[in-house]
Amino acid sequence: MATIKASSYEILIDEDYAKLNAYVESLSPSNIIIIVDENTEVHCLPKIKKHLHQDFLSIKIPAGEKYKSISTCQGLWETLIKYNCDRQSLIINLGGGVIGDMGGFVAGTYMRGIRFIQMPTTLLSQVDASVGGKLAIDLSSYKNIVGLFLEPSMVWVDTSFIQTLTELELRSGYAEVIKHALIRSKALWQRINSRKLDYSSEEWSTLITDNIAIKNFVVQQDFKEGGLRKVLNFGHTIGHSIESHFLNSTSPLTHGEAIAAGMICESYISHEQNLISESELSTITSYIRSLYPINVRLSTISTELIRIMGHDKKNVSGQILFSLIEGIGDSTYDVHVDDDIIIKALEYYDNITS
Ligand SMILES: NC(=O)c1ccc[n+]([C@@H]2O[C@H](COP(=O)([O-])OP(=O)(O)OC[C@H]3O[C@@H](n4cnc5c(N)ncnc54)[C@H](O)[C@@H]3O)[C@@H](O)[C@H]2O)c1
Ligand SMILES: [Zn+2]
Repeated sequence: MATIKASSYEILIDEDYAKLNAYVESLSPSNIIIIVDENTEVHCLPKIKKHLHQDFLSIKIPAGEKYKSISTCQGLWETLIKYNCDRQSLIINLGGGVIGDMGGFVAGTYMRGIRFIQMPTTLLSQVDASVGGKLAIDLSSYKNIVGLFLEPSMVWVDTSFIQTLTELELRSGYAEVIKHALIRSKALWQRINSRKLDYSSEEWSTLITDNIAIKNFVVQQDFKEGGLRKVLNFGHTIGHSIESHFLNSTSPLTHGEAIAAGMICESYISHEQNLISESELSTITSYIRSLYPINVRLSTISTELIRIMGHDKKNVSGQILFSLIEGIGDSTYDVHVDDDIIIKALEYYDNITS
């Protein structure tokens, strides 16, 4: 049980639903709409139904990133109108990052903005997406290109929800846990390094709480990503390019798998820049590799990957800028790296022998 204060709202990591009921009552909503997808309807909604005292209506959307789109939003806005939602309505986003990002965007724009609660149900959304007020949808092949910065009324994190995730989804979210440790907490790194995903539910709960605290701390310093918040992009410059490249292939990677490969490459770059030692690079590489033994060759597609990196949102005036680690547990951002070093990093990845 923990409460973490964000700027205008609280993040409650809890399973005592009396607290949720008290909070929802205090908002006196005119009605409550819960947005779910086909999986959270089955795995998470029954628990909410059992514990939430107030009446609600639910809206179900299909699961998956491809539905994080303007046409799904249109359906959601139309249903809100049909359900007579007004300015005092409350939306609860019960799902992973897709529902959180899109449900928040829909709430933030319906009638110029109504209140919403984030209830993240995947590891990725609990430790990352639900904290920090970034809301967005995709447009054609551009991820998160239309959206806003807006804080929810509250984030309610029931860590037991992650128990029904597939191993693939759990591992995907875990890459952000590794990232948080590397950029911000040597203590967290020491706790997780060499562990597999065999945590007990209490350990997951503590791990999730500590990760939310790290993400929240960084976001609090720099809500609109003018500076420090960029460190959260460690592993993501190369990782996103890998994710995009394999998106339409026969074997797409999960976000976490792509970020895991990206973190190995960007740790190599950190070493090239004299920011981490050879032994730190080798420990990071072997731990990440043991959890994400994905079989992709990167150096053969370096031109394409660098082209995609050229479109990264963090770039300024066409320069590819990296967030790198400075020792384990600290980080820096806005580092320009020449293409030949990026290519060496991709080659380093391809030559890992494990
Ligand atoms: N706003 C941010 O700061 C931020 C940060 C990181 C990622 N994101 C976004 O988050 C999205 C990815 O989030 P995600 O990985 O949670 O994806 P997701 O929402 O698609 O969920 C992954 C899968 O798990 C299923 N699922 C959800 N909860 C479940 C549960 N408890 N049990 C069983 N299955 C469950 C979903 O139906 C889906 O099939 C991306 O769109 C990404 O852009 C946003
Ligand atoms: Zn990520």
